[in-house]
Amino acid sequence: MPQMYGELAKYYDLIYYWKNYKEENEKIKEIIRKYKKTKGNSLLEVACGTGRHLEYLKKEFECTGLDLNEEMLKLARKRNPEIKFVRADMMKFRLDKKFDVITCLFSSIGYVRTYKNLEKTLKNFSNHLKVGGVVIIEPWLSKSTYTKYSPHLTVYQDKDIKIARASISDAKDNISIMKMHYLIAERRKQVKHFVSIEKLGMFEISKTLQLMKKAGLDAKFLKKNSLDMERGIFVGVKKSE
Ligand SMILES: C[S@@+](CC[C@H](N)C(=O)[O-])C[C@H]1O[C@@H](n2cnc3c(N)ncnc32)[C@H](O)[C@@H]1O
Repeated sequence: MPQMYGELAKYYDLIYYWKNYKEENEKIKEIIRKYKKTKGNSLLEVACGTGRHLEYLKKEFECTGLDLNEEMLKLARKRNPEIKFVRADMMKFRLDKKFDVITCLFSSIGYVRTYKNLEKTLKNFSNHLKVGGVVIIEPWLSKSTYTKYSPHLTVYQDKDIKIARASISDAKDNISIMKMHYLIAERRKQVKHFVSIEKLGMFEISKTLQLMKKAGLDAKFLKKNSLDMERGIFVGVKKSE
């Protein structure tokens, strides 16, 4: 089965054509300015995908990108040839460096799926932060904001390619399950049909804050100022070594 971040990576930027990375970047910078207590400007973008946030963040920060999927990293490198990228899992990466800022955006944290993995991931983020450094996490939906059984459709089209992605939301316990059906019509090719199943953990705000605190972070959930009002933003500042 093709995976969204594997064989389908080349369609990622088209599927999310509507996302305003430039505007989001301004809001991220505002949060960094408000909460970061360190003087440095090193930034690690975890689950950087095709490197679209980095395209803007690199103008002010000395950036490193990290992602699990090589196909996504290839696109990120092409977009940002001057940046260092690392292929690793956010739950267990080990870099020989501590950062002033760590970002993990657009619900990527949901891919760790369980609270046990979330705890491990947050500890890992904290271990890679300088004291006074800030971590910014844009979460996936929680059980109370996710709706089961609703139909979803995303359409992208230009003169050379038409993409339709349809799914019906489902969930089991605290895992959201989206079986995405892709229909892709490209000039001079056969129409392709792919199915890709996305499973993300739905984490409660209070439990996430508790785990951030356990990882040694001064943690807050921002509803106002967030990039997406529905999902909000977690901000954590590292307290001590
Ligand atoms: C929804 S995309 C977000 C990409 C990018 N941050 C953006 O805003 O466009 C999720 C990303 O998480 C990455 N990912 C999933 N699980 C991961 C893991 N365990 N460690 C690192 N990256 C992971 C995927 O490869 C994909 O690039």
